Amino acid sequence: MVGIENYSKALKTYISEVVTVKEPVKLYEPIKYIVALGGKRLRPILTLMSCDFFGADYKKALPAALALELFHNFSLIHDDIMDQAPLRRGKETVHHKWDLNTGILSGDAMLILAYQLFEEYEPNKFSELAKLFSKIALKVCEGQQYDVDFETKIDVTIPDYIKMIEYKTAVLLGAAMNMGAIIANASEECKNNSYEFGRLLGIAFQLQDDYLDCFGNPETFGKQIGGDIIANKKTYLYLKTLQNCSPSEAKQLINLFSETPENPSGKIKFVKEMYQSSGAAEASTQEIVNYTEKANSVLDKINISEENKAELKLFGEKLMKRNV
Ligand code: IPE
Ligand code: IPE
Ligand code: MG
Ligand code: MG
Ligand code: MG
Repeated sequence: MVGIENYSKALKTYISEVVTVKEPVKLYEPIKYIVALGGKRLRPILTLMSCDFFGADYKKALPAALALELFHNFSLIHDDIMDQAPLRRGKETVHHKWDLNTGILSGDAMLILAYQLFEEYEPNKFSELAKLFSKIALKVCEGQQYDVDFETKIDVTIPDYIKMIEYKTAVLLGAAMNMGAIIANASEECKNNSYEFGRLLGIAFQLQDDYLDCFGNPETFGKQIGGDIIANKKTYLYLKTLQNCSPSEAKQLINLFSETPENPSGKIKFVKEMYQSSGAAEASTQEIVNYTEKANSVLDKINISEENKAELKLFGEKLMKRNV
């Protein structure tokens, strides 16, 4: 086992070789800006880890790992436009620092750069990786559309929400694991189970993101706290509160989520209190544990060493305890 610090180091070096600023500067500078801000880089780390754990040189997985990180960063630029978010990774979002057109075009270029990185692989691998990538990238778009649709839809259910976060977030973590397995020539069964591990971890991860969006520490989270409430996002917290509260409280919450007040601070405070007092906040924390445990149970079906399984479990546990 190479260790997360070494994956991160190798990734950082590889990023500095691939992600550079050239003409036209206004296209490439925002790309370098968002990528250099870093973030947790958990998707590429999962790819490197998976490749390593299935017995191949993790460095072979660097192009695929970076492709996923570029795709992820592209989706963040466009997501911040869609969510009208001012802050990302503790800094101004791309469309705020530059403008809307810059965010759109630099994002588009990142998606293409991501695809291009798969050209580093021989034809058979290229085909398998690119096919998986296209499939999950389209799912991410579908998930993002559901996310936006749900802002104004009043009859969203918890299963609807879980499907939406599976698409917008979890499939990419699944693909990250799967790609490492593909590069390491793992069996079909191991590839599928790796995907499943990542997918389940990804659901826990997005539940946690939604929790932190509401209850996280603004100093560490790096995004605007309460952003999901401002945008009327139908998160697990919202849906569970509706299930748990009285009909009159439900009516009040539904009304609040059909408005977009100029000054949202009162709405944020009120909704957060409801999420707490209804037990939804606690239920959400429990659901994060449940999905992480489901992910861990898939590890039993994967043919890697016990030591490596323990490492993946630890990775999931750290994600559950994060404040970023
Ligand atoms: C943010 O992803 C978008 C979600 C899918 C929740 P991350 O929380 O992985 O963001 P970074 O890359 O670490 O900034
Ligand atoms: C974003 O979900 C998922 C994708 C970017 C595809 P969010 O909208 O919750 O992500 P953050 O909170 O802005 O990072
Ligand atoms: Mg967002
Ligand atoms: Mg969003
Ligand atoms: Mg979020």
